[in-house]
Amino acid sequence: MYEACFNNKFTNALVFYIFLLLLLLVSPFLFFWELIHTVRSCFRCSENMSGKVVLITGASSGLGELMAYEYAKRGAYLAIIAIKEPESRLEQVADRARELGSPDVLYMFADVSKVDECRMFVDNTIKHFGHLDHLVCNAGIGPIYSIRHEVTKFVPVMDINFWGSVYPTHFAIPHLMKTKGKIIVNASSAGVLHPPKGGFYNASKAALISFYESLRFEVSPTITITILTLGFIQTNLITAEYSTKGFGVRLRKDVKDVLPTMGAEPCTKAIVDGVCKGATSITEPRFMKALFLIKFLFPQLHSFYFNVGVPSKNRRLKRDE
Ligand SMILES: NC(=O)c1ccc[n+]([C@@H]2O[C@H](COP(=O)([O-])OP(=O)(O)OC[C@H]3O[C@@H](n4cnc5c(N)ncnc54)[C@H](OP(=O)(O)O)[C@@H]3O)[C@@H](O)[C@H]2O)c1
Repeated sequence: MYEACFNNKFTNALVFYIFLLLLLLVSPFLFFWELIHTVRSCFRCSENMSGKVVLITGASSGLGELMAYEYAKRGAYLAIIAIKEPESRLEQVADRARELGSPDVLYMFADVSKVDECRMFVDNTIKHFGHLDHLVCNAGIGPIYSIRHEVTKFVPVMDINFWGSVYPTHFAIPHLMKTKGKIIVNASSAGVLHPPKGGFYNASKAALISFYESLRFEVSPTITITILTLGFIQTNLITAEYSTKGFGVRLRKDVKDVLPTMGAEPCTKAIVDGVCKGATSITEPRFMKALFLIKFLFPQLHSFYFNVGVPSKNRRLKRDE
């Protein structure tokens, strides 16, 4: 049967086009399903975060910092993590979170790419607060890859972006099982759309999406997993200055001067609102979802855009390598 149907070029292609046709036929229903889902989510009860414990990695700047403030405004206890650097702002973030309403903030310096340090900060959080309700795996780096670079320089991208989320998740799961908690993982739209020059960044984010989609089957419904697939958000990560600090292609201009970007505050508010309402995936800005659909339904159009549209802009972004 398999031989007859799928080892034959004609029947193999036919099955694909029949599925495509079926998809087109059911698409009006899918449209209304999505609409109903969106309207229902607006009226869904929000989790009361007062007295709950939230652990956030990469909280010294950008999205992690602002998510800490959003949770603080909702009265949550916080454990916040960043890698120790002489100029780290983690202590100031902790002070600001207390001012905004968090009853207690524990801040710890750790490198998420090191398994023992991840075990340490999860254990310390439990020792200090007694339980854990939300784990936000946010720490990440975003160097831009070019084939002209030494390939081994990019090993930390996978270590920080992928393993740096998986390690804390592994140690937190037994505690989150007890509280019926949540895991929030900051992947990226780059993990779905694979933009040029993303290279290892795209791969690390695609690996995160794949890992957590699979983990969902093992831990739900006790633990809810929310996967974030964000577009360009105005943080240090997309500035020219950031690109000169690490490795990879250096940017001549901030991405926000060249491409549409979203403010970090509305983005983190939408994330924490969505998480508290039990969303299992969050895409901001919302229009990115249309690009995911285009990528899936019309892969040729997606390639055309990146082949024709982006390289010329990319050349303008690039200063040197
Ligand atoms: N901005 C965007 O457009 C965008 C879009 C999609 C997804 N994201 C994702 O959002 C997350 C946060 O990025 P951001 O835009 O807020 O950038 P950011 O301001 O540079 O924040 C990155 C955070 O990660 C921390 N970090 C980096 N390496 C670490 C390590 N080894 N161990 C522990 N902490 C580490 C940094 O701490 P230090 O300050 O101590 O180095 C910082 O707090 C990342 O995972 C990124 O991929 C961002």
